Amino acid sequence: MKKQELKISFVSFQSIGELTKKDQKLVEKAIEATKTAYAPYSDFYVGSALRLANGKIVIGSNQENSAYPSGLCAERVALFQAGTLFPGVEIEALVITARTKGKKLKAVANPCGSCRQVMHESTVRQNKPFKIILVSEIGHGYVYDSIESLLPFSFKFE
Ligand code: THU
Repeated sequence: MKKQELKISFVSFQSIGELTKKDQKLVEKAIEATKTAYAPYSDFYVGSALRLANGKIVIGSNQENSAYPSGLCAERVALFQAGTLFPGVEIEALVITARTKGKKLKAVANPCGSCRQVMHESTVRQNKPFKIILVSEIGHGYVYDSIESLLPFSFKFE
């Protein structure tokens, strides 16, 4: 038996201005997308935006349901929307941001396990990792170069 360790690397930033211009635009789109969230049960409004290799930006927001599990997270709405509108076009980057009623959220919204699994599948499909950018309402956040960092030991048919 041998004890092993896993190292995960990511970049943190204090303000959106530290990102590339292209990524800043993507963050703006994700913030805008929070306005389309349907979240009467959680009051947690999530926005996601992804940039494709053809230059298109596809957005998504969380869509809740009174039968709670029937709702869907913002990033999965965006990913499935991209798969429907632009099948086979590579994803370059995906942003997730969230806001709530009242106080400003200091923490980023980390994607849930199901969304991570879907991001993993998109990566396998395009055979190339894409950047994942998590941005808090106060503008700080993290950049991951690949879903591999957020979902190590992912399920795959091997
Ligand atoms: N949610 C997302 O849309 N994305 C995330 O990354 C985390 C959670 C949604 C699901 C639900 O509508 C609400 O946020 C509260 O969990």
